[in-house]
Amino acid sequence: MTDTVPAANPFASRLDEQKKRISDNLSMVKKVIAVGSGKGGVGKTFVAINLAWTLARKGKKVGLLDADIDCPNVFVALGISDQLEASDEGKILPVPIDGIQVVSMAGLSEDPEQPRIWRGPMIGKAVSDFLSKVEWSELDVLIIDLPPGTSDAALTLMQSVDLAGFVIVSTNAPSAVLDAKKAFLMAKEMNKPVTGFVENMRSDMFGREKVEDLAAEVGAPFLGAIELEKAVQQALEENRPVTAIDPKLRIAFESIAEKVWSELTVEDKRDENPHEE
Ligand SMILES: Nc1ncnc2c1ncn2[C@@H]1O[C@H](COP(=O)(O)OP(=O)(O)O)[C@@H](O)[C@H]1O
Ligand SMILES: [Mg+2]
Repeated sequence: MTDTVPAANPFASRLDEQKKRISDNLSMVKKVIAVGSGKGGVGKTFVAINLAWTLARKGKKVGLLDADIDCPNVFVALGISDQLEASDEGKILPVPIDGIQVVSMAGLSEDPEQPRIWRGPMIGKAVSDFLSKVEWSELDVLIIDLPPGTSDAALTLMQSVDLAGFVIVSTNAPSAVLDAKKAFLMAKEMNKPVTGFVENMRSDMFGREKVEDLAAEVGAPFLGAIELEKAVQQALEENRPVTAIDPKLRIAFESIAEKVWSELTVEDKRDENPHEE
């Protein structure tokens, strides 16, 4: 009987190459955090944009990557109508606005109203392309706004980036809370640090405390709650982050941003002293 040599797994080596390309490209970025949830429409993009704006106002160098490939809406929300340009080396250049470096698939569309109909693997590829081909300047934090779900974009990101944090957004609606739990379990399964949960669109309609209860149940921080507010609609009409125009929401986001930042720093300390609890 002859010994069989196990064949090298071509998928594993391709993933390693992709990880290396991405980590080389992100060498100027101190921390990468993702904003996600299981559900669509719960306010991930809203939280990602306003967290980015708040951290930028605190003096952090912030990048924002819209990883919602089919329905990218970060550019519209921030009033960016520019197309993305390439550097001389062929890298994608982010668009600067309010001190934030922004990249979105919307900046590559000729017609933003046309749907992009892509299969999952193409979405994963587009996300890894963005991660390996955008020329970020030096950043304290890169915030990635994920599309809904726990496959494609979210999976590519978790497999290929050393995330410093994952912020999970949910409303108190039972189906949103259930999907937020799935997002949490996915992050845990992939050994990614969960920064905590943000409750969004708090209102009497959904009842109270379900997101807080979930955070307590899984032992993750509750980062804060944002009320359902009319000012958000007004901000959308003005293509501005609501934190730029509404003092109440600015205060709410300042508290969330502080908690997010201190969670990220706690992770740093754990890395420095891995045996201390
Ligand atoms: N706290 C809030 N109050 C009022 N409207 C909100 C709030 N959060 C988000 N929205 C609005 O709800 C819609 C969905 O939010 P969005 O951030 O696009 O969700 P997601 O990215 O999770 O799909 C958007 O029109 C957004 O402006
Ligand atoms: Mg979104």
